[in-house]
Amino acid sequence: MDNDLQLNRIPATDHPSLKAWNAADELMADYSSTKEHSIGIYNDAFGYLSCRLAGANASIITDLKSQATAIQTNAESSQIDIKPEQFFLLKDTLPKSLEIAYLKIPKSIGLFETYLQHIHANTDVNGKVICGFMTKYFNKNWLALAGKYFEIVEQSKAKKKARLIILSGKKEITPSNNIEKFKYEHLNLEQHKGVFSAGKVDIATQYLLQNLEVPYQHNNVLDLACGNGIIGKWILDKTKVDVMHFLDDSHLALASAQLNVKDSNPQFHHNYELNDFEENSLDWVVTNPPFHFENTIDISIPINLCRAAKRCLKPGGVLTIVANSNVGYEAFLKRHFTNFEIQISNHQFKIYKCIK
Ligand SMILES: C[S@@+](CC[C@H](N)C(=O)[O-])C[C@H]1O[C@@H](n2cnc3c(N)ncnc32)[C@H](O)[C@@H]1O
Repeated sequence: MDNDLQLNRIPATDHPSLKAWNAADELMADYSSTKEHSIGIYNDAFGYLSCRLAGANASIITDLKSQATAIQTNAESSQIDIKPEQFFLLKDTLPKSLEIAYLKIPKSIGLFETYLQHIHANTDVNGKVICGFMTKYFNKNWLALAGKYFEIVEQSKAKKKARLIILSGKKEITPSNNIEKFKYEHLNLEQHKGVFSAGKVDIATQYLLQNLEVPYQHNNVLDLACGNGIIGKWILDKTKVDVMHFLDDSHLALASAQLNVKDSNPQFHHNYELNDFEENSLDWVVTNPPFHFENTIDISIPINLCRAAKRCLKPGGVLTIVANSNVGYEAFLKRHFTNFEIQISNHQFKIYKCIK
């Protein structure tokens, strides 16, 4: 069956070792049976499990827009029928409770907990949860966390360096609050568990905020890969903007930005690319871009976002980026923008100012 699957990563990558599925996905698919009638698939990176379990009419629960797109696109290319009604976000209640849930464990422990909370709330009393992971990423805190929600936490034998954690015996617990609150200078911030930089503002972002130069034209501004929206919120606090846009691949991130920015008529975009924006429409794009995909450094994602930002900027518009000094964007930015300068740097970070 695997040979018939046409699975590609979305967003696409140039990284040669990144594949669309791994042995943890295979182990979960091999565990599956046709006994259960109500199946949930969580965090199915690029659709391997959703395709292997097609026909079971599973509920497919995603946080990332790119993940939902990848699952749909890969199912279509593999001539597998998955319907739009099968897709849900973590804010949704499922139409029927699950007898079995499959979860590919994410790198972020906060996000693992958010998935477990959704599974717990949407699983039958006799339900089972099958969590798949590659053994090199095992985190012993996962077991304690899973034990908060389920009585029985068992591990399978490893196969091809992958393993399963199997949960059953749903505990009777009152769901805990999923929102974390913290302060940065005079700003109060909130975010859902699992959103980037828990409990604090990331140090690269702090460097950007403390050294932020607002360009002369800043009517239409995009906080690209906004996370909890701290960059856009900071800008709105400092200066007047006609339209402030927030865009992130993660729905939990965007929902957090919505908690943090309630006035100033912001626009929120759940997306992993800039196809919502017209060419030459933005004055300023600001970003602390993602350069990790789960456990791997992959700069093709930020490079593609910068390429898209250039298309959407007006001539003379500015792209401001903060990056770790050792992440190699410079050559690309120099080649693609009319004017490129390092606005400021220290031993750890650089802020690039790129003019279209
Ligand atoms: C380095 S964090 C920065 C978050 C926030 N701006 C801050 O400074 O705290 C990068 C963000 O990029 C998001 N992300 C990852 N890939 C993305 C993509 N292709 N398009 C949009 N957002 C993406 C992640 O969900 C994460 O919230």
